[in-house]
Amino acid sequence: MKGLFISFEGIDGSGKSTQIDLLAKYLIKEKKPIVKTEEPGGTKGSNEIRKILLRENNFHWSVETETLLFMAARVDHVEKVIKPAIKDNKIVLCDRFMDSTIVYQGMRSAKAKKLSLNLFELIAINPDITFLIDMDPKIALNRALNRATEEDRFENYGINFQNELRKNFLDIANKQRERIKVIDGDQSPENIAAQIIESVNNLIP
Ligand code: ADP
Ligand code: TYD
Repeated sequence: MKGLFISFEGIDGSGKSTQIDLLAKYLIKEKKPIVKTEEPGGTKGSNEIRKILLRENNFHWSVETETLLFMAARVDHVEKVIKPAIKDNKIVLCDRFMDSTIVYQGMRSAKAKKLSLNLFELIAINPDITFLIDMDPKIALNRALNRATEEDRFENYGINFQNELRKNFLDIANKQRERIKVIDGDQSPENIAAQIIESVNNLIP
């Protein structure tokens, strides 16, 4: 068994957490060692940064500063959780990774995008496979807004912003077809999970 790094991307409410849970359940049943984690988060330090970034009424950062905070959280997470787990031959399931920064921050500022890409070179790790759960933002937004969490800073931008996010995610997927697998999110959770499991099984010896 070799370590594997799997990330999940998509607009808010697209079903990433649901799919991570279903894949985790399957892999545990198959007796595969997994680590389930998320960004921003996964370590004590990254969770502190997450609180700063995602709490309500927190709009005073420039998009470049925001990018630096997301990247700082990522460095801590990669060094303390992701790299050690892969070295230990585990399967890492990560809710969002670098593509989210390229899309959410990069979309708003070319400088922020460049900044994140420069820092990402130093992190030197890319997912083996990324599942982009693609779906109509109207459906995803309704799902996300129904959840009523306090972390709604990034969800409050509305439907136009979500449409832009979707387009930008699909653009990255088109450019990196080998790594990013686009999955239609507007199906039953079980159908989506079956497609994800099939792809993952192709990567596990
Ligand atoms: P994300 O992690 O991408 O924000 P979640 O997995 O939390 O998305 O899903 C958002 C909401 O939509 C949750 O209430 C979840 O139960 C529901 N949901 C997830 N996947 C599906 C699906 N395939 N069909 C219908 N509802 C779904
Ligand atoms: P997440 O907890 O995955 O939210 P959701 O379950 O609604 O998809 O992510 C929190 C928010 O942080 C989400 O709106 C996307 C945003 N985000 C960025 O803007 N940049 C990033 O680099 C990451 C990882 C997340």
